[in-house]
Amino acid sequence: MYQRLQDVQLKTLVLYYSLSGKTKKVAEAIFKVAEEETDAELSELKNFTAEKLNNYDLAFIGSPCHDSDIAKPIKQLLENIQESPKFKLACFVTHSCNPPEMGDRFARLFNEWVGKCSNTLDEVVSSKNIDFKGFFRCQGAATPAIENFIHTEILPDKEEFQKFVTESRKHPDKQDIKNAQEFALKIIKRIHF
Ligand SMILES: Cc1cc2nc3c(=O)[nH]c(=O)nc-3n(C[C@H](O)[C@H](O)[C@H](O)COP(=O)(O)O)c2cc1C
Repeated sequence: MYQRLQDVQLKTLVLYYSLSGKTKKVAEAIFKVAEEETDAELSELKNFTAEKLNNYDLAFIGSPCHDSDIAKPIKQLLENIQESPKFKLACFVTHSCNPPEMGDRFARLFNEWVGKCSNTLDEVVSSKNIDFKGFFRCQGAATPAIENFIHTEILPDKEEFQKFVTESRKHPDKQDIKNAQEFALKIIKRIHF
């Protein structure tokens, strides 16, 4: 799909945590690019430790958004990273909330329901002095239980909720996957050249 970049054997890790497969789908798409361009591995978070990150030059780490923030297991991993690590970091997040581009109302909801993800990353990156290469996010369909929560607690209006589920259930879609792959390639290129 892509022309291979110069033959430097960059060791890349794509690590993800995913409860219902949305973040996994994005991770696999990123891995596809990483695999074509570098010496890449794909791994679930299970059994992975912060120390193991030191075996790579570049780590893409993915998480669903939970309670407006990076999911706890990934947050914990990030917090366990040693100071000034040698590897470079890029992160990706999937969230059920509609993206802010959908209008003022959704921009406010996005801020409230996804906003802590970038704050957490900013904090970790600056406190650990991490060479941070970028952040990607896209929508990921909510499970029925989360949809119910959203309807009850966030979008009680039937019409607004219907608009939300119609959009949310499509994601991650083809365009999200394409965007994720472009994001990954841009980061790999930035490191290669
Ligand atoms: C416990 C829990 C909490 C969630 N909290 C949020 C949230 O605060 N904001 C949001 O946009 N989505 C939230 N979601 C939805 C997920 O972030 C979203 O559906 C994601 O794409 C799921 O990814 P996964 O399939 O990889 O687990 C939550 C999901 C769960 C299970």
